[in-house]
Amino acid sequence: MRLLLLVCVLTLIQYNAGAQTKYDENYRPRYHYSPAVNWCNDPNGLVYRNGVYHLFHQYNPEGNRWGHMSWAHATSKDLVHWTPQPLALAEEKDTMIFSGTCINDVNNTSGLGTKASPPMVAIYTGHIENVNQSQHLAYSVDGGIHWTKYNHNPILDLHKKDFRDPKVFWYTPGNYWVMAVVLPVEHQVQFYRSPNLLSWKLMSSFGPKGDTSGVWECPDLVKIPVQGNPGKYKWLLQMSMNASMQYFIGEFDGKQFISETSGNPVQRPDYGPDYYAAISFNQLPAKQTPVAIGWVNNWNYANDIPTEPWKGMMSLPRTLMAVRSKTGWSLSTTPVSALRQLRLKPLVQGPIQSGKPLSVETNQAEVLLVYKPGHGMSGIRVAAGADYSLEIGYDASSGELYIERGNTSVQSFNASFAKMHRYSTKIQLGQKALRLQIFIDHSVVEVFANNGEAALTAQYFNPPSAKGIELFGMETGQMAGLTIWPLRSIW
Ligand code: FRU
Repeated sequence: MRLLLLVCVLTLIQYNAGAQTKYDENYRPRYHYSPAVNWCNDPNGLVYRNGVYHLFHQYNPEGNRWGHMSWAHATSKDLVHWTPQPLALAEEKDTMIFSGTCINDVNNTSGLGTKASPPMVAIYTGHIENVNQSQHLAYSVDGGIHWTKYNHNPILDLHKKDFRDPKVFWYTPGNYWVMAVVLPVEHQVQFYRSPNLLSWKLMSSFGPKGDTSGVWECPDLVKIPVQGNPGKYKWLLQMSMNASMQYFIGEFDGKQFISETSGNPVQRPDYGPDYYAAISFNQLPAKQTPVAIGWVNNWNYANDIPTEPWKGMMSLPRTLMAVRSKTGWSLSTTPVSALRQLRLKPLVQGPIQSGKPLSVETNQAEVLLVYKPGHGMSGIRVAAGADYSLEIGYDASSGELYIERGNTSVQSFNASFAKMHRYSTKIQLGQKALRLQIFIDHSVVEVFANNGEAALTAQYFNPPSAKGIELFGMETGQMAGLTIWPLRSIW
């Protein structure tokens, strides 16, 4: 009996040891969300309810590679600190729980809760390998902790192998729910409507358009404010394909999305290799600017990245706004301001003269660099050691902002990773200075240029000792504004 008890206690201790990581393993991000253990991909069901932000995500409860897809759950009061919650939706016998959405059914239109205690509803894709993808529903009457699968699932089935990733929101002018969902192979987003979340009617579809180089996944349709024009809004339609994302800006009249951007050239919410499946929060407080979170990884090598005992993390939450310029509409994306609470006393602050060594070391920081690029390439190297660094620079000859991770350490875990080392996007500077806001977190950098004009996200795997930061390529004596705040851990 005593022996049995001992075995039980030891097993429990061992089980908890996995979950109670100190979040200090090599490459472990300290202020980006990642699960304690196991594989994660797409954010799912981002929703706000009674002061709490809910993040669900694709998760394998059984291992550190893709499989047994289920929904894990974490909550936050500030979009910065996250508390893991019990597994929300577990895989069924033959049906995996793929990506989807959550909403508060405030008026209990589904009848699955009560008006006094409105249900939280999750609509996700039920995936039967090689056979069928259809839309399913589950609901929670305790604010998202315990979930019951609807017993008349599926709620929407076209009897197709590929039909997935529903995003649902309440369309106020029409008094109905709208679902955006993709036909991946056809490169189409379909729009459905419903009075009660249970029965759905097709209204229209969008696409193929823009980037059709891979199957379309994870559509997101959201109304976003126009920067500098209070009270004006546009609609953003974003989706994922081929380890990258694209967006369109236009109008949604309750039935169809009419794009006012052409998709040529393709416009992307992020131009780096590691930002995918981003969706925006549902039902944020009216005053809050829309916020999206993406998965920091890339299907070309996601299963092989050298992180243990977890794989995959979420991007920093980003605010979304529409910007009108001479060339048309574009998306402005900036890290949420709540992240400022993580800043510690700056290691560097003020104008810096190029050519002087910085002697700063940190791989957990926010950097603000403002300068006027001259000729050739210039910028900043981070995660720098004797042999390695990751370069973030501006190439004046092509007018491109780039991330170059070809000189980082561990690359051989997957042949594609080594090939996918340079990412860039055009930034027209004219006489303007370049403003780079850079978040460094042990194995990830997120770069935001010119207050939202472009973002680039990339993973890298350098030894923990490689944590130098240096400026390069600036003209002799050139002054740059530089601030480096070390950031607190959230765990
Ligand atoms: C996107 C995706 C989705 C799917 C999920 C499966 O990364 O392929 O289309 O629902 O991942 O985990």
